[in-house]
Amino acid sequence: MKELIELSNLPKHIAVIMDGNGRWAQNQGAARIFGHRNAIKAVREVTEGSVEIGVSYLTLYAFSTENWGRPEYEVRALMELLVQSIGNELPTMMKNNVKLSTIGDIASLPAGCQKTLKQACETTENNTGLNLILALGYSGKWDILQATKRMAQEAKDGLLNPADITEHTINSYLATEERPPVDLMLRTGGDHRISNFLLWQLAYSELYFYEDLYWPDFRREHLFEAILSYQKRERRFGKTGDQIKENSAK
Ligand code: IPE
Ligand code: IPE
Ligand code: MG
Repeated sequence: MKELIELSNLPKHIAVIMDGNGRWAQNQGAARIFGHRNAIKAVREVTEGSVEIGVSYLTLYAFSTENWGRPEYEVRALMELLVQSIGNELPTMMKNNVKLSTIGDIASLPAGCQKTLKQACETTENNTGLNLILALGYSGKWDILQATKRMAQEAKDGLLNPADITEHTINSYLATEERPPVDLMLRTGGDHRISNFLLWQLAYSELYFYEDLYWPDFRREHLFEAILSYQKRERRFGKTGDQIKENSAK
């Protein structure tokens, strides 16, 4: 399947809602945490698949603002798993030239997590391959709220002129900063919703939903399948199909 992908027309930024760990485990009579543990292989697969074909940005929704409302033991297990897997995966990230960063309310995470994340981001800082962005304690509304507050404060302090605010200004205050908008958003688990993931940044993304696939079963072929679907679509951005064809013929 990989051979069919047109490398000149790759989505620059792919974002993934990794959903269905709990149901995957419960379907086999196991505890939800078992699903989270088995999700790590899928994270490795989507990352290595992206590295393999040369995707520039991959954003993974790992823990949402709303996920804080889950039972305490599940939250704790997720945080422990995060620390463990970042440590385990660091050598592979270095080997694959992956640059790790995070978006979200990182200060809300346990101190140990913050420390591990900071170290991993610093270690991979000079890597020049795939930009891997973990969304942690993240939600789209949180992002818009924090950006709005900072902009309002800077306007009040005379550092930002409201008349000069453009889309670019807003981009730069959002947690995603200068990263490009999302071209392709994937969701496993069978639900068709955004679940408060990137909101502004998804404005014109193509969406791809896996109907019968829980996240722990995700393999790089599933990524390639979504990219092939993306490449068959006509992205019109409000224009007519004829205009798009004319431009691509030039
Ligand atoms: C996604 O799987 C992982 C996180 C949200 C942290 P879920 O834990 O949401 O699994 P389901 O959707 O309940 O099956
Ligand atoms: C979205 O999944 C969040 C992550 C994948 C981290 P959820 O399982 O939390 O979303 P809902 O509850 O189905 O909307
Ligand atoms: Mg879920």
